[in-house]
Amino acid sequence: SAAEKGGYEYFMLKEIAEQPQAIADTLLGRLSDRGEIILDEVRLTDQDLRDVDKVFIVACGTSYHAGMVAKYAIEHWVRIPCEVELASEFRYRDPILDRSTLVIVISQSGETMDTLMALRHAKEQKARVLAICNTNGSTIPRESDAVLYTHGGPEIAVASTKAFLTQLVACYLIGLHLAQIRGVMYADEVAAVVEKLQNTPDSLRTLLDGMEDVRALARDLRTASTILFIGRHVGFPVALEGALKLKELAYMHAEGFAAGELKHGPISLIDDGTPVVCIVPSPAGRGVMRDKVVSNIQEVRARGARTIVIAEEGDEGVAAFADHLITVPPTPTLLAPLMTTVPLQILACEIAAARGNDVDQPRNLAKSVTVE
Ligand code: AGP
Repeated sequence: SAAEKGGYEYFMLKEIAEQPQAIADTLLGRLSDRGEIILDEVRLTDQDLRDVDKVFIVACGTSYHAGMVAKYAIEHWVRIPCEVELASEFRYRDPILDRSTLVIVISQSGETMDTLMALRHAKEQKARVLAICNTNGSTIPRESDAVLYTHGGPEIAVASTKAFLTQLVACYLIGLHLAQIRGVMYADEVAAVVEKLQNTPDSLRTLLDGMEDVRALARDLRTASTILFIGRHVGFPVALEGALKLKELAYMHAEGFAAGELKHGPISLIDDGTPVVCIVPSPAGRGVMRDKVVSNIQEVRARGARTIVIAEEGDEGVAAFADHLITVPPTPTLLAPLMTTVPLQILACEIAAARGNDVDQPRNLAKSVTVE
């Protein structure tokens, strides 16, 4: 009913709007007086976590994209190897696991069969399993050695939105926790990142208030035959997530690419007017990645692409290459997916609505996939 949707036309729009609060809830009470990250239901000792020499992140769909972002953060902060794997592939590949492997499984529902089977496989091989989950008491956290609940609140729309952002926050917290107990980061360094995380709900509110343009753009793009998404570093999983949302809701062809990979093949897809959504990294620091993406934008534009550029506010230089510019509040590079994903969620939702699709219940899909 309309009341359940809190005045929004779709649950998806309601859940997109709830993201600032959802993130704040994931962060709530996670930092101890001693500046340590507090996890829930941790049946792993600090010593277990110190012994970890390799991390695997296993998940499906959008949760897998959260894992891809986490890999960048964990390797950068913790300095141990981290691999990300689709749950449906993981156990059939015969991965190398033992007691010193930490397997992080990510699942909104906690009931995804592919992920559950991967978890069981990891446990049989004696790996330690830590779950990131949104649903209290569901099967995946029950079978794991430790859990960090995202506390994002119920997600009704089939397309995952607030669950994704809260999974990212949970991944950041785990990365920081590992870095701290392993002595790679000091408490004050951890606290500095946590403070940046605590600022993201406000930045997100500002971002959400300025999305009218994206709605207009969506009406314009509703008849496109394909939409491509490009990004680098953590912008690459964001590109994949933008494409997944569009496929699942708008039933349109869409694909996400690592921007540097275009020249190895996919650039031949670009034709006159092909819409390409480009996720631009922050120009902060040396801005090397930002400059690389900007040259990728020039390359696609030279071949006729219509560029929809998502960049940080104040990055003046990108406007010249953008047919359509969407700006997001400045955020540290690793945390940027908390901002850049949001316009892509709205774009997919609005294109789907403009095409007359059932936004909350797309065809052929279920909210939780309990078959392998
Ligand atoms: C995303 O919008 C999806 N509907 C889907 O990819 C989902 O993320 C995937 O099925 C995993 O679900 P889970 O997080 O509940 O395990």
